[in-house]
Amino acid sequence: MVRHDDSLFFKRESKRSYLDKPVDPDALQRIYEKIRWSPSNSNNQPWRFVFVRKDDAHHQAFIEALPLGNQWAGEAPMLIAVCGRRDDDYVREDNPVEYYQFDCGIATMSLLLAAVEEGLMAHPMAGYDAPKVKGALEIPDDFEVLCVVSLGYKGPIESLDEHTRKKDESPRTRKPREKVICEGLWKF
Ligand SMILES: Cc1cc2nc3c(=O)[nH]c(=O)nc-3n(C[C@H](O)[C@H](O)[C@H](O)COP(=O)(O)O)c2cc1C
Repeated sequence: MVRHDDSLFFKRESKRSYLDKPVDPDALQRIYEKIRWSPSNSNNQPWRFVFVRKDDAHHQAFIEALPLGNQWAGEAPMLIAVCGRRDDDYVREDNPVEYYQFDCGIATMSLLLAAVEEGLMAHPMAGYDAPKVKGALEIPDDFEVLCVVSLGYKGPIESLDEHTRKKDESPRTRKPREKVICEGLWKF
């Protein structure tokens, strides 16, 4: 197996415990820049990232938009709303893909990997009440909340409640390579 454990790609993980330590401001600026330089269809750069610190006035309303199963994210020093809107898309007549969503996904991966580079952990989430997030952060109606991400320094598993700890203890798995990647003709 070709796997380089010192690579950012393999160090990245979605765990749920965070240290009570603010994100280094210089690290944050470097992360912002890496997000900004993500690729996008027609260079539309449709992403909008709203970073919310734990001590921000809007943080409480933000975590109230998360279901019970994602409440652990309220302990992260930062929560991020990844937003995009259809109007910023360029939809090709020969290809109906919604590239604004795809592009926001790419930019989110930039965030996830940039976080690892800074010794941080970023955990993406689809579990949130989108209208509540929009209300909490005053996100305009024409934007969608495509993802929520927690960001901070990884903490000890012992600080999690039992249910959340079990999730973090479960092994990270992937489909076998031949189920997702082939060479030449379609072989799945
Ligand atoms: C779009 C998206 C939505 C996710 N939603 C949640 C979520 O709501 N709650 C959660 O705990 N993890 C969530 N995850 C994390 C995944 O469970 C995790 O990425 C997956 O199990 C693979 O583990 P890894 O990131 O450690 O490699 C989400 C990940 C992605 C990319």
